[in-house]
Amino acid sequence: MAHITFDFSLLQTLLGKVVVLTGGATGIGRSCVQQFCNHGAKVVFGDVSEAPSLELQAELAPNAHFVKCDTSNYSDQLALFRTAHDLYGKIDVVAANAGISIPQNIFDPAADITQEPSMKEVDINLVGALFSARIGMHYLRKNGGGDLVLTSSIAGFKECGGLPTYTASKHGVIGIMRGLHLTATPENIRINVVCPWMTRTRMVLGIEKGWYERGLPVNEPEDVARSIIICATANRGDGGKTHRGAALPFAGKIVYVAGGESYEIEDGIQRLEPVWLGEENSKVLAAGQAYLASEGTSWDETKMN
Ligand SMILES: NC(=O)c1ccc[n+]([C@@H]2O[C@H](COP(=O)([O-])OP(=O)(O)OC[C@H]3O[C@@H](n4cnc5c(N)ncnc54)[C@H](O)[C@@H]3O)[C@@H](O)[C@H]2O)c1
Repeated sequence: MAHITFDFSLLQTLLGKVVVLTGGATGIGRSCVQQFCNHGAKVVFGDVSEAPSLELQAELAPNAHFVKCDTSNYSDQLALFRTAHDLYGKIDVVAANAGISIPQNIFDPAADITQEPSMKEVDINLVGALFSARIGMHYLRKNGGGDLVLTSSIAGFKECGGLPTYTASKHGVIGIMRGLHLTATPENIRINVVCPWMTRTRMVLGIEKGWYERGLPVNEPEDVARSIIICATANRGDGGKTHRGAALPFAGKIVYVAGGESYEIEDGIQRLEPVWLGEENSKVLAAGQAYLASEGTSWDETKMN
């Protein structure tokens, strides 16, 4: 685990950058739009919630541009990215942040099994992030590279009582990073994930009271937005300058955010693999991984080596 200390001087690297973000109307996304714009970036943000989005656009005019976009709808996302590209001719940073949690347990023994449950959390949190990653990668490639930052959650790597569908969707978001970053990094596209713990937004209204009574750590939306900005700027400093604790290249990382602080945890998970998987298993796994990553290997049996 590496505690990351924000280096404010790296904020100047945002000057003139173009950011596309989903879920910008409220909470963490809203703070991100504000912070990116306050440091000289242009932000094109999508959301389904119009009134707070239009208010934010007006507050930050002309540097923030709102596009109504349901992140689970592919054509909406295409339109969001196209708008940014048409307006500014490039996209440097993509932040897939839109998300919902529904207080439902589809595995509740009392639930009516004949009623199909809502899969909106999967559609918005996971399918939406996959769409953002796919379209975003296209535009980042056009730009010669850039940063893709995904918002997962503590539920992306831990049990999360009462929210099994949300937990599955957020594990999937980490899967997007793990599935993509090895091939994206050589294309100069850095993919990182932010995993916030409890953050004071409308998403946590149900658990807030008991949380505060127990004195558990709390993030403000601004703290998580800063972690997203850590990911978006870590690789942009001159001469290898980065945030303290952010080992370069900063790609394929998971930033855990708790009590307002950011910690990189993926390096430790990888480093300790021989401990939790066993030394022999870890060695054999590495050989399999090397084979899968080698030139000419394909999952398509018609192209079998
Ligand atoms: N608040 C927390 O404690 C916490 C913890 C871990 C992860 N997160 C994640 O952080 C992200 C931001 O959440 P938040 O806490 O700021 O909550 P929030 O509800 O304030 O923000 C979520 C935003 O996403 C938008 N949105 C919802 N459905 C959408 C859709 N279909 N298309 C586009 N936009 C849509 C909402 O309108 C809202 O603006 C989410 O991905 C959430 O899962 C939050």
